[in-house]
Amino acid sequence: MIDEKKKFQEVLNVGLEVIQTRDIDILLERILTKARYLTSADAGSIYIKEGDTLLFRYTQNETLQKLLPPGKKLIYSTFTVPVNSQSISGYVADTGRVVNIENVYDLTDSVPFCFDPSYDRLSGYRTQSVLCFPLKTNTDEVIGVLQLINATDELGNIIPFQPEDEPFVVHFANNAAIAIERATMTRDIILRMIKMAELRDPMETGAHVNRVSSYSVELYEAWAHLKGINRAEIEQNRDILKMSAMLHDVGKVAITDLILKKPARLDTGEFEIMKQHTYLGARLFASQRSDFDKASFLVTLNHHERWDGQGYPGFIDYATGEPLLGYKGNDGHATGKKSEEIPVFGRIVAICDVFDALSSGRSYKKPWEETRVLETMASEKGQHFDPEMLDLFFSNLEIVRNIMQLYPETKE
Ligand code: C2E
Ligand code: SIN
Ligand code: SIN
Ligand code: SIN
Ligand code: FE
Ligand code: FE
Repeated sequence: MIDEKKKFQEVLNVGLEVIQTRDIDILLERILTKARYLTSADAGSIYIKEGDTLLFRYTQNETLQKLLPPGKKLIYSTFTVPVNSQSISGYVADTGRVVNIENVYDLTDSVPFCFDPSYDRLSGYRTQSVLCFPLKTNTDEVIGVLQLINATDELGNIIPFQPEDEPFVVHFANNAAIAIERATMTRDIILRMIKMAELRDPMETGAHVNRVSSYSVELYEAWAHLKGINRAEIEQNRDILKMSAMLHDVGKVAITDLILKKPARLDTGEFEIMKQHTYLGARLFASQRSDFDKASFLVTLNHHERWDGQGYPGFIDYATGEPLLGYKGNDGHATGKKSEEIPVFGRIVAICDVFDALSSGRSYKKPWEETRVLETMASEKGQHFDPEMLDLFFSNLEIVRNIMQLYPETKE
């Protein structure tokens, strides 16, 4: 148990720490971590309201997590729950009330909702105490539900959630809801930029950018752990990279439809024009006013460089596309950046982008089987791809497959 004064301070701090998070996925993760800490909850989930349904968006479970090898993440599926009184989360979304249950297997007829034991059956986990509360905005609109599971005492025994905790939780939920609203807005603005690209190139979808950016964050995290980068820096970079990686191909909006939508291989001249999408994208972030601009600049400019130096656009002046002084090769092109000359974010997104491009359909190709994708990428280790980074990507395939399932091709 945390003492009251410390807890109060923690709740106030949530404002700062959480509100500075711009990416919605990372925000949900931070909100849940914090809420579980404040209430000593073993597990929890966040649902986001979309019309008449609640979308299960994110979950954590300390007990199940401990059963996994170190560094592995919990795999989960998304599902929806109707907003009505039949389920605990549906009831909370419907009524805007806080529900505090000592044992979900002992619900009486005095409550309208039932506990759905299917998740417990599937996972082997035993849910007991539940604190479920609405995420309400300033205007009292419910935008989601946070469900905390199994409060624990110092010895790890499951106990009921303390009614004294409820005011903290309500205050916390209000801050969280405001942060979620803002992050959703940022996400929508970015997705609108991508929609413009998608209108032009139907294969470069919202699902593709969500996947590429999610893989990129996982790969960055694995790499940063290996390099001993401190937690605070990792957390900040995850948030920044998430949004920057979404925009890796934003420069394609400036490429003509004749090339972008060509249902066949590009000829040499066409590909030369296509290559411009790197620095045309980078120009959008050239002011480098924020960390987000700086990272987006690095990602757009460097995601097609190759470890062996044969990538593009190489050492150019992004404003003109011309080689920098002393970097003009015999073919007239700029010398490619090689190995560690390529910024880390570029090396990461290169792997994640190619993996997703090969795994999905394009106007010029069908999706490939996973084995073919992996064999092709492995054969490019040390040539196209940073060898150490590629090994890390391969050792995190399970989470990559989970992300593919969270963002299927169908629609945004
Ligand atoms: P993209 O479709 O997002 O592909 C990103 C990268 O994934 C490609 O960068 C390439 O490294 C890899 N990739 C994609 N498809 C294949 C494939 O069938 N085989 C192999 N081995 N690798 C693949 P790249 O080549 O620099 O291309 C950049 C962008 O140029 C592509 O983005 C796509 O928008 C466009 N593009 C490339 N080739 C063609 C083409 O033949 N026809 C058309 N219409 N567009 C192309
Ligand atoms: C955006 O451009 O959509 C958001 C940028 C930011 O949050 O810094
Ligand atoms: C980092 O800040 O750790 C990576 C920046 C980069 O080189 O892409
Ligand atoms: C390509 O064929 O477009 C590039 C292949 C690769 O470097 O993986
Ligand atoms: Fe690209
Ligand atoms: Fe792409």
